[in-house]
Amino acid sequence: MAVALLVAAGRGERLGATGPKAFVVLAGRPLLEWSLDALRAVDAVRRIVVALPEGYYAPPGCVGVRGGVERSHSVRAALAASLEGDGDGEAGTGDPDEPVIVHDAARPLVTPAQIERALAALEESGADAVVAAAPVTDTIKRARPSGEVETTLDRRALWAIQTPQVFRRSALSAALAQPDELLARATDDAWLIEQAGGRVHVVESPRENLKVTTPVDLRLAALLLEDRC
Ligand code: C5P
Repeated sequence: MAVALLVAAGRGERLGATGPKAFVVLAGRPLLEWSLDALRAVDAVRRIVVALPEGYYAPPGCVGVRGGVERSHSVRAALAASLEGDGDGEAGTGDPDEPVIVHDAARPLVTPAQIERALAALEESGADAVVAAAPVTDTIKRARPSGEVETTLDRRALWAIQTPQVFRRSALSAALAQPDELLARATDDAWLIEQAGGRVHVVESPRENLKVTTPVDLRLAALLLEDRC
């Protein structure tokens, strides 16, 4: 069995919406509901904890927790809450080997199959973490602040990292126990595992599992969801 942490506490300023991004309406429903559907459809998921902005309540059947200042702080709060009993669902076991799924509410196109593939890859690889990732299709160059190109990277070895990311509870818990300043620099939790010398694997995921950041992403996500119906 596994627990799932859905981080939904971001402000989403780049989207230009009046409220938090996870509650912006996408194809008729709040953004986070699409990810919740996918998580609920995975048999192995026995508990879902949602990190929320101040003043928002947990969706039915989920445990809610107030998010932190930065994304990884929200993940840390949700991981702690996954161990607390709330009388609504089974409390966490604290089993160090238990898989913990971390997913951004900002990726509403995730499917149950993608989550299951990440869970299976964690078992097969024996890694500390498995991250969903799409092969990079653009040519990627590193440039100096002046704009002068320094180098062109070999894209055959490059992956664009997404969520879901799946961790052994012990590895995620140790990674998130690091100082707040380090957590604030993490754009994903797997980076914290890498910093601590842990092993992280990628599992291939489609580019369609996009992150809603700007209004264009929201329009694209709506079109892709329409195609699914
Ligand atoms: O800001 P960004 O799009 O990178 O955020 C990724 C995910 O992390 C979003 O689902 C957002 O709600 C969540 N987040 C959070 N707490 C924060 C910042 C972001 O839960 N302090």
